[in-house]
Amino acid sequence: MGAALFYDMKEKAMANNVVILAGGQGKRMKTNKPKVLLEVLGEPMLEWVISACEDSGMENICVVKGFECEQIDEYLAQRQTKGTVETALQAERLGTGHAVMQAVDFLKKDTSGNTLILCGDAPFIDEETIKGSLAHHTESGAAVTVVTSKIKDPTGYGRIIRTDNGISGIREHKDCTPEQLLIDEINSGCYWFKTEALLEALPLLDRNNAQGEYYLTDCIEILLSKGYKADAFTSRNPQVSQGANDRKGLLALNDIARKLIIDKWLDEGVEFVCTDGVSVGRKVTIGTGTRIDSNVKLRGNTVIGKDCKIGVGCIIENSVIGDGVDLNYVQAYNARVDDNAKIGPFVQLRPNSHIKKGAKIGDFVEIKNSTVGEYTCVAHLTYVGDSDVGKNVNFGCGVVTVNFDGEKKYRTTIGDNAFIGCNTNLVSPVNIGDGAYTGAGSTITKDVPAGALALERTDMKIIEGYAERKLKARTEKFIKAHGDE
Ligand code: UD1
Ligand code: CA
Repeated sequence: MGAALFYDMKEKAMANNVVILAGGQGKRMKTNKPKVLLEVLGEPMLEWVISACEDSGMENICVVKGFECEQIDEYLAQRQTKGTVETALQAERLGTGHAVMQAVDFLKKDTSGNTLILCGDAPFIDEETIKGSLAHHTESGAAVTVVTSKIKDPTGYGRIIRTDNGISGIREHKDCTPEQLLIDEINSGCYWFKTEALLEALPLLDRNNAQGEYYLTDCIEILLSKGYKADAFTSRNPQVSQGANDRKGLLALNDIARKLIIDKWLDEGVEFVCTDGVSVGRKVTIGTGTRIDSNVKLRGNTVIGKDCKIGVGCIIENSVIGDGVDLNYVQAYNARVDDNAKIGPFVQLRPNSHIKKGAKIGDFVEIKNSTVGEYTCVAHLTYVGDSDVGKNVNFGCGVVTVNFDGEKKYRTTIGDNAFIGCNTNLVSPVNIGDGAYTGAGSTITKDVPAGALALERTDMKIIEGYAERKLKARTEKFIKAHGDE
């Protein structure tokens, strides 16, 4: 009890806040979205930043929104949050310092620890940088620690003015002297502040600079003048400050992320035949020995097992794929495929489909909200919707589960070892018993008992001489129209 209480107090004493600056419009993107909602590898840049914070254990987050702020509210509302993410509105865009001022009420809720400030449009902030800079910040006792990086072309960034035991300030590009412009260590836009020191500095910011903005960076000189210490932490991540100002920049971020993730999986023993058009979301996992061909998109929370072949053109989203699975031109959304199944080409697995071990799904097949049992074969041109299909069932070509009557959807069940003849319509709700057969072309409207054959079509009739009579009539008509030639 005593220990638990002590632990709680200790946790509380270390409470850290995060403020994410996300007010920007990104005019050059030519979009009416807030810039931070533009996507890198299918996830908004803001998502990258928030999840880096959450991965680092920082779960008390405030997003400062501005342009088209309702879209940010909508995004955050549907997002699974580990801790709390609240927002503050910056109605007018008067600079980074002004943006942080909008979060003062949030900061005042807990001033005991430190506050991390991040840019919502620099998606590659990472756990190592966040944790490393916090450790540096805490050890050095600085009131503010700026995360910096050294880059080849520092144009546009704030330059770090180093001193013997810390830094003396950050000079914005537009305010630099010619000598300062040569400095290649830049402000990444990520900082740790002691929360109390930040709250002390913010009201003292002014707009006496080249851009007439409240510069957050001026907090450093303000805190130094009050006798606090300011320091810098150089991130090992060269991309930590990289954002995008236009569509080309956004594409560049996507290319960087794409390559970094593919490199990581190469190190894990995944084979990429060719990376053209390949993108792997950062939450995806891939087993060793799996081979990924060109134009494959692996998205969301997808898990791919070992020794799979993910052939050309597959799109796999939020799906779990077992070991030894062979996919070729498959699109799978919220689906599950068990070991050694072979699927494709041109197959769509729609949400809530489960293809069990060793099943074979062939060309032009759509499966939706259905289970397909072990070793079952759905080889061609078939629609299986809202169905529970047993083991070792064979579907002939062109089978359709007729699951929708225009108002409601119904389920079909098919027992183990059943044989569904070509072009069977299974009008649901309907049950086909174990081992039952349906004759080709049947429209099955009633349950078929186990082991039976169901035929639902008329007996074939032969009408002798029919064609001859038809031909005679057609010939006479032709002669009337065109003459006898
Ligand atoms: C800022 C830093 C600069 C640093 C650079 C890193 C200042 C004064 N300068 O530059 O030293 O090298 O970031 O990228 O802080 N934002 C708002 N409201 C505003 C202004 C900005 O929410 O009124 C947000 C932007 O959407 C963005 C972030 O703050 O996410 C940074 O703003 P941006 O204008 O890109 O940074 P700079 O001022 O150019
Ligand atoms: Ca600016």
